Amino acid sequence: MALPPEFLDELRARTPLPAVIGRRVKLTRSGRQWKGCCPFHGEKTPSFYVYEDHYHCFGGGAHGDAVSFVMQSQGSGFVEAVEQLASEAGLDVPKPTPQAAEAERRRHDLHTVLEAAGAVFRRKLFEPEGARALAYLRGRGLSDETITRFGLGWSGEGRGALAAILAQDEIRPDMLLQAGLLTDPGEGRSQREFFFNRVMFPIRDRRGRIISFGGRILGDGQPKYLNGPETPVFSKRRTLFGLDAAREAARGGAAVVAVEGYMDVIALHQAGFAGAVAPLGTALTEEQLEELWRLSPAPVLCFDGDAAGGRAAARAAELALPFLTPERTLRFAALPAGEDPDTLVRRSGNAAFQAVLESARSLSEALFDLVRESAGEATPEQRAALRGRLEEAAGRIRDKALSAEYRRALLDRYFARRAATTASRRNGGGKAVVRPMALVRPVPAESATAAERAAILIAVLLHHPALLHDVEEALGALDLPPPLAGLRGAILQWSTSAEVLDSTALIPHLAQAGFAADVARVVAAGVYPLPAFALPGAQPAEAEAGWWHIFGLMHRGRLEEEVVAASRAFASRPDDDAAQRRLIALCTAREALRRGEQGGDAGPD
Ligand code: UTP
Ligand code: MN
Repeated sequence: MALPPEFLDELRARTPLPAVIGRRVKLTRSGRQWKGCCPFHGEKTPSFYVYEDHYHCFGGGAHGDAVSFVMQSQGSGFVEAVEQLASEAGLDVPKPTPQAAEAERRRHDLHTVLEAAGAVFRRKLFEPEGARALAYLRGRGLSDETITRFGLGWSGEGRGALAAILAQDEIRPDMLLQAGLLTDPGEGRSQREFFFNRVMFPIRDRRGRIISFGGRILGDGQPKYLNGPETPVFSKRRTLFGLDAAREAARGGAAVVAVEGYMDVIALHQAGFAGAVAPLGTALTEEQLEELWRLSPAPVLCFDGDAAGGRAAARAAELALPFLTPERTLRFAALPAGEDPDTLVRRSGNAAFQAVLESARSLSEALFDLVRESAGEATPEQRAALRGRLEEAAGRIRDKALSAEYRRALLDRYFARRAATTASRRNGGGKAVVRPMALVRPVPAESATAAERAAILIAVLLHHPALLHDVEEALGALDLPPPLAGLRGAILQWSTSAEVLDSTALIPHLAQAGFAADVARVVAAGVYPLPAFALPGAQPAEAEAGWWHIFGLMHRGRLEEEVVAASRAFASRPDDDAAQRRLIALCTAREALRRGEQGGDAGPD
């Protein structure tokens, strides 16, 4: 039965092989693939590997895709296997109509035509008429081995030579027209060759069959590259240049990298980065992203370091968001300004490109910066818009759990930045002095005992009583040892009647009320070294975030509730400075807690 190859591709794409095989074989993760004991021959140690799109047994040599697995393991025929998988994938198997059979035969013919044309172009490159083209490619640093590996060629000068040569193989002009190798100038006039005076780059499908060509002009001139037209076998948006080679390389563990041009892919391949692919002169499409994810869970998108590169990155991130899952993400690498991967490896060597790859950022990081750059953050209006866009970006991720994580990560970053800029403004607006980050490791406080933590909380309030209004409920909820509980009561009582919440008024007041010794014990260095944020000279924002950090160490759940309440308050009053300050302090504290947890040095409770 002649099933359209697009249907079979779609079926394979929608059939997760590890799931199909996992029903019969116990599989365990092994790096990016799965492995288990081969179901086709008796073995005790697993040598059966399952990849995204095929399986291979290194013991017995069994090899195939989802369809052949069903055939082999259930003894079904091809049609039966396809029908079973299609119904599981929710696809209808196309009826084998005469038209479908005819279309399939035509596509087959087109492949034959394109292969034959490719052979002509390759041959011409090494004949006298191709000498300038060959010199051009060598002059661009390509070895003959690379030229051969990619099947590069020379188009000839036009004037009907291609049709004449291929006529000897019984290839008719109408087939060349369908393959996109001739142009149809319309009624009566003679057909002309689509490519002439160009270096030819065969474009292949993932299985390595030629489906079209790109042609580059020698030297300067416009258009620099010409790509063949859309045909029954060539769809620009579904194709990635270099995919056939990259698939092979990715299996061997090569990084999968999407770059911009044909020459970039080829130069990278020659430099040992064989996982490189490129779209065909357009922005990355959804179909191309899918292809990338079939090769790697986290392909790297490599962009120019300039503004256009930034826009392209933003577009790609935007495109990818709905499809992200914990197993499918992207990384973003930026090239040095003015370089493309080809010029970079040639001028600065492989290590330079390796460095670009290693500096690739995660999607969540890149996304934050991309949104921030486009929204701005100078005015309250811009900041509110920025927040809205970050939330909206996270909301576009369809995977619920991942969407929630992105939302958190993006907003945490937003508030951490807000805290940083607020603090640096308070510090005189000098160069980004990221004060609250000092809180990230208030190490003595992390390992303090419960009583010491309580004392620190009171000390902060003694020195920064202005915080009292914001923290009084949380403070009231704390379970404090007797002397501190008494002090707390006195402080809260004072705050209800004090004209200004000022340390120089509070401390004498407490002394008069008979708490002098308790105050001294709390603030005296030596009993317990107070962290910087609890000292009189701390910035108010530091003191506040520090207070919530310690509070969070004692009452994690309550801190989370405070964060939620503060986000709501801020959302309804985005211009209220106090609401904003409070939220920043709480988020900074939560961030510090998280880092403390990751550091694994949370103290005794
Ligand atoms: P670039 O202009 O970045 O070219 O186009 P490049 O890859 O650096 O080419 P060289 O190094 O000068 O040879 C990137 C890609 O955009 C498409 C091609 O696919 C090219 O590889 N393109 C470019 C076109 O389709 N048409 C053009 O006129 C130019
Ligand atoms: Mn280039």
